[in-house]
Amino acid sequence: PLSGLKALVTAGPTHEALDPVRYIANHSSGKQGYAIAAALYKLGAEVTLVSGPTQLKPIPGIQHVDIPSAQEMLSACEQALPADIAVCAAAVADWRVAEQSPEKIKKKSDQDVTTLNFIQNPDILATLSKQGPKRPGLVIGFAAETEKVESNAKSKLKRKGCDWILANDVSPDTGTFGGENNTLLMIDGNGTDRWNKMTKDAAAEKLSRRIADQLKLNT
Ligand code: CTP
Repeated sequence: PLSGLKALVTAGPTHEALDPVRYIANHSSGKQGYAIAAALYKLGAEVTLVSGPTQLKPIPGIQHVDIPSAQEMLSACEQALPADIAVCAAAVADWRVAEQSPEKIKKKSDQDVTTLNFIQNPDILATLSKQGPKRPGLVIGFAAETEKVESNAKSKLKRKGCDWILANDVSPDTGTFGGENNTLLMIDGNGTDRWNKMTKDAAAEKLSRRIADQLKLNT
C-alpha cells in the first residue's frame, strides 16, 4: 500500500557534546523508531532512517543515516526531503551547551562545581511540520511524558503543528524507555484513540497500517 511513497523516520537519542569526552543524552533505545521504519518499508515505502547513537543495526533495504546530535539530525532530515510521510520518534535532547569546550573541562579546585550555559536545540518535528511546500503530507510525532500524558500531548500536537501525535508514559516504572512494549495514545485533530499495551513491533505495524489507510483517504 505504500509503494511509490517516501518516508522519513527519526529514532534514538541525540548526544550533545560538552567537551571532547563528555555529552548529555537520554535513555532512548531507538527500538520504536527502528520498528516503525521497518514496518513502513514492509508496506512498500522508500524509507530514510535518521538515527542517533543506538545499539541497533541498520535495517537492510532502508537508507540509514547516523548522526550524533540534534543539529545534525535536523540537517539530515532536511536533506531527506521531499517525503510523503515523516515520523519523528527520536528523543532529541532539548538543550546543548552554548559553547562546546575544545578541551576537556577541568575542575579548578576541590570545591569547584562547574556551571554550564545551555541553549535550546532546533525542534525537528516542528521544523518539518512548518516546511511550507516541502512539508510531508503526513507528519507524526511522539510525546514522551511522565505526567498529564494526554493533555501535555494535545498541547504538543498544537504547538508543533504535526498531524498526529503518539503519546506515551516514559516514567521509569512503565519500562517504556529501553523496553520491548509501549502503551500509546494516538491523538489527532478529532480526538484520542487508546491503544492497548503491545510490543513496539506491533505498535509500529498498527501505526503503518493507519498511515496507509489515511493516505488512501487523501487520494
Ligand atoms: N522533537 C524534535 N526535536 C526536538 C525535540 C523534540 O523533533 N528538539 C520531537 C520528538 O521526536 C517527538 C516530539 O518532538 O516527536 C515530542 O518530543 P518530546 O521529547 O516529548 O517533547 P519536547 O518537545 O522535548 O517537549 P518537553 O521536553 O517540554 O516535553
